[in-house]
Amino acid sequence: MELTKYEEDMYNGEYGEGKAECMEILVSLGKIYDAEKMIPITSAQVSGVSYKTIGDAGLDFVVDLGKKADVTLETMLNPAGVDIENWEELGFSEEFTKKQIDIIKGYESIGVMSTCTCTPYLIGNTPMLNDHVSWSESSAVCYVNSVIGARTNREGGPSALLAAIVGRTPYYGNHILENRVADMIFDVSYDFNNEAEIGALGYYVGQIVNDKKPYFKLTSNPGRNNLKLLGAALASSGAVSQYHVEGITPEAEFARNHDSFDELETIDIDETIIKDTISKLSTTDKIPDLVCLGCPHASITEIQKVTQLVKGKKLVKDLWICTSKAIKAISQQCGYLDIIEQAGGKIVSDTCMVVAPIEELDYEVIGVNSAKAANYVPNMCKLDVVYDTVENLIDMISE
Ligand code: F3S
Repeated sequence: MELTKYEEDMYNGEYGEGKAECMEILVSLGKIYDAEKMIPITSAQVSGVSYKTIGDAGLDFVVDLGKKADVTLETMLNPAGVDIENWEELGFSEEFTKKQIDIIKGYESIGVMSTCTCTPYLIGNTPMLNDHVSWSESSAVCYVNSVIGARTNREGGPSALLAAIVGRTPYYGNHILENRVADMIFDVSYDFNNEAEIGALGYYVGQIVNDKKPYFKLTSNPGRNNLKLLGAALASSGAVSQYHVEGITPEAEFARNHDSFDELETIDIDETIIKDTISKLSTTDKIPDLVCLGCPHASITEIQKVTQLVKGKKLVKDLWICTSKAIKAISQQCGYLDIIEQAGGKIVSDTCMVVAPIEELDYEVIGVNSAKAANYVPNMCKLDVVYDTVENLIDMISE
């Protein structure tokens, strides 16, 4: 692989043992994928934060790395296993929380921002079109490639962290323009009415394309919040890292004009497919004892919508809206937090229903409006799930 003088010096240890180790691993990774060179990156997002998913081995990895090298650019973490500020009130154990705090402190000690979110693009880690980045949470990867048009592979937590330390990642896969073309066309004749329908589209298509790039022809613009849910669903039932939506996402025109486009297979999507997929995503018809919104982490406009829905109501079951600390702070300033809390709901920050040890709490059925969460909760948390719109879910748990 061709390295610049600076990269070679890092590789040879001129900038310290830690950076040399990171370069060695990244160069080896690049060789596996036939990368011709390394490419500078502008930001990183690191998954592998929850103690539930990385355990003691992950904690040791972070602590060990912390002794050797710091990150050199904007780096944010994926959601952690608990809300560090309100873990006790939410019912999480002290033992788990202590381990979780150690992991976050380990990351913090090497310069990683300790805000933990899968929607870093909503709180300032917002790359520009064509920027190269190294992100690892699958929904964030899908959003940044598709909606923003920055370029990342679907990194693992460790490879994103190593890239953040040396400021470089191997140049292969999604970093190369030619690899960002569409692989299959989905002609969607159905007019979407809500987020559950668009999530179902993503879930259905993800199963068909796996890691390929779908190109959607939609009848209307779903908006940023729904694009976030679409990408999360695509990346959970499949391993999609980028999609195009005709007339909406920034590289759709490039994909449309590519020589290969006219030869692509087209699959029609109609109302039956969407309705069928929605019904398959629920595992029970019981009333949820917890409604959990914010997968991917909620935007301020999604929280505003929930505020309008719960205003003046009394919730008889628990409601969590998962988001970043920053969006929670804005919700407080806007008065949304007060209204949600008065109704009996909570804004839960820096964790989510999937990476938290929610199975240790006293819940049996979780209501979600995210196809990704509906896909993961039964497997990762061993709980039943009800998949529906935010309006219907709030109705189910309101007096
Ligand atoms: Fe984010 Fe957790 Fe969903 S990490 S995308 S809220 S499963």
